[in-house]
Amino acid sequence: MTAPAATKRDLLRLTDLSRAELLDLLERAAEWKLIGKRGPHPLAGRAVGLVFEKASTRTRVSFAVACSQLGASEMMLSPRDMQLGRGEPIRDTARVLSRYLDALVVRTFAHAKLEDMARWATVPVVNALTDASHPCQVLADLMTVAERLGQDRVSRGELAVAWVGDGNNMANSWIEAAILLGFELRVACPPGYGPDPELLRRAGGKVRVAASPAEAMRGAHVVNTDVWASMGQEAEVEERRRAFRDYIVDRKGMALADPAAIVLHCLPAHRGEEIEEEVLEGPQSAVFDEAENRLHAQKALLEFLLAPP
Ligand code: CP
Ligand code: NVA
Repeated sequence: MTAPAATKRDLLRLTDLSRAELLDLLERAAEWKLIGKRGPHPLAGRAVGLVFEKASTRTRVSFAVACSQLGASEMMLSPRDMQLGRGEPIRDTARVLSRYLDALVVRTFAHAKLEDMARWATVPVVNALTDASHPCQVLADLMTVAERLGQDRVSRGELAVAWVGDGNNMANSWIEAAILLGFELRVACPPGYGPDPELLRRAGGKVRVAASPAEAMRGAHVVNTDVWASMGQEAEVEERRRAFRDYIVDRKGMALADPAAIVLHCLPAHRGEEIEEEVLEGPQSAVFDEAENRLHAQKALLEFLLAPP
């Protein structure tokens, strides 16, 4: 059986965008932020399905509000409540939903499942987080870096970014950002918990595997971390606590970073594990702007996919 031919664009990973498209999206996101709540409705009459197989606060709410502010309606679709949860194949679900909806925003476990959804859907599919990547979060992260440190530094790649902790979905999407924008990314992960090796290979010299969090943070302009155990890894929590004990973003590490460095965390955070309370709540933390920027970045993304100029 062959999937339907489609000309639509998806965002399954950040590198589905070209460098120019990514930079345009960041600029448009900043414009949407200035426009605020009561702007134009380029998606009037459209409908977006939010298919969430994992918990979510930020992604789910920011996509729903983005749809409403752009004039589209949105529908939360839990696989538990759909026939998908009772074994209806993804290829049937994707084709049927494409007859009603104009886009699918999907959070799931295996990235292959998302790819399957995109293969069969005839409308754009957006990755709202898989075990392999979280591109929408990194769009908002880059927007936050541009706001705090300057759009030029982002577009010219004049940044040193430290990733401290798990080489997880977020780390992978940051590697893709480094591939597209050419900034220096240093990743410090405990042995055995590094990012996708194939991505590291593709990134070549742009990504450096650091021997310690201190090495990654020294002189960094952006310091970024995430939970030690992601959703789906609950059984590994204790083992990971032991392995990641030294992989914390704390005041000692921040003293090594550039004095104007900002701290990012996609949230939810575990204070006292991957990040010290004083850092998360401190003056260098940009985490709540980062969370807000999910909304603006996703408005730019939905407009790009559904109502390109
Ligand atoms: N950062 C993020 O994606 O948060 P949620 O899991 O709450 O959506
Ligand atoms: N790495 C985390 C990100 C949550 C937004 C997870 O996948 O659970």
